[in-house]
Amino acid sequence: MKILVTGGAGYVGSHTCVELLNAGFEVVVADDLSNSSELALRRIEKITGKRVLFYQVDLCHKTNMREIFEEEQIGAVVHCAGLKSVAESVILPLEYYYNHLASTLILCNTMQAYGVRNLVLCSSGRVYGMPEHIPVDEACPVGNNVTPYGRVMVMVEEILRDLHTADPRWKIMFMRFFNPVGAHPSGLIGESPSGTPNNLMPYITEVAVGEEKCVGIFGDDYPTPDGTCIRDYIHVCDVAKGLRMALQHILALPDDTTGLVDAYNLGTGQGHSVLELVHEFEKVVGHPIPYEIRQRRPGDIPVDYCDPSKAERELGWRAEHTIAEMCRDAYNWRRKNPKGFGN
Ligand code: UFG
Repeated sequence: MKILVTGGAGYVGSHTCVELLNAGFEVVVADDLSNSSELALRRIEKITGKRVLFYQVDLCHKTNMREIFEEEQIGAVVHCAGLKSVAESVILPLEYYYNHLASTLILCNTMQAYGVRNLVLCSSGRVYGMPEHIPVDEACPVGNNVTPYGRVMVMVEEILRDLHTADPRWKIMFMRFFNPVGAHPSGLIGESPSGTPNNLMPYITEVAVGEEKCVGIFGDDYPTPDGTCIRDYIHVCDVAKGLRMALQHILALPDDTTGLVDAYNLGTGQGHSVLELVHEFEKVVGHPIPYEIRQRRPGDIPVDYCDPSKAERELGWRAEHTIAEMCRDAYNWRRKNPKGFGN
């Protein structure tokens, strides 16, 4: 079966393509390459020995989407495309609302027109905002004090719930991932942010290889044991596996099932502080990583890690990679690709 992966040349998207191809699916990628590179697709082919069909399209244009569904027999969609920086969304809210809402509306409209109703959405742990309880489970209310990025993902999920209400034949899963890090163990694909990275792991990696002087830690006066924020870091290959298993779950449902719409957390269930991550990385590289304490970053919440047990119970998925493997693979990727994909 052909699976359309939107954002398939991006960080999570490329690892998902590998996972899908290795599981025997055919993969069609739609990506505008605004924050990714076609080289990632060649690397996916190198890892898997299989071909990736590619459409360079802006998902916010209806005619582009129709062209893909006209040409290819798409059976399901994994929707990874979209802007994803929490901090940037606070500064550029309109861009974030437009990007996610327009692309999802056009995608679903086109899927409906072509009778494709199987959708796995890359959502985010950020939908919970300031979580009501920790560890965050799927029963935790969404939308509490969220950033524009979190809010638009809540909106996207609500739109998809309405779509399912209107036509219960849709099968939709929201995969809410926490902090994806690391890279494929081959070192052939990984995160390739354009410019200075915003996120913690890529920044630590730059300091580890001497490209940046020191890691700025945004606040050490949070109510946590060492004062720095706690997150649920998860290996990107575990995320990709979760997306693949969600897709297989949907596709295994009998045809006469009245669809489904459901949400799953993808995380390890363990929190690590910013300082702990720096120290884990030091163990991998074998030398100290300089850091300094800076001011808190707007929009950050002190503690955020999830209860991933629903995904284990219902999908048979659990994260396998350790924090040491996440650091090792991020470092390996960076050393083999000093300029990322050069995008
Ligand atoms: N941090 C630093 N220094 C840095 C970068 C980050 O101290 O240079 C801190 C942040 O303040 C935060 C923690 O490291 O406390 C993690 O920050 P990231 O930017 O790496 O990640 P976020 O938790 O802000 O957001 C990430 C992704 C989102 C995703 C979210 C949860 O960027 O796309 O995880 O799923 F939605």
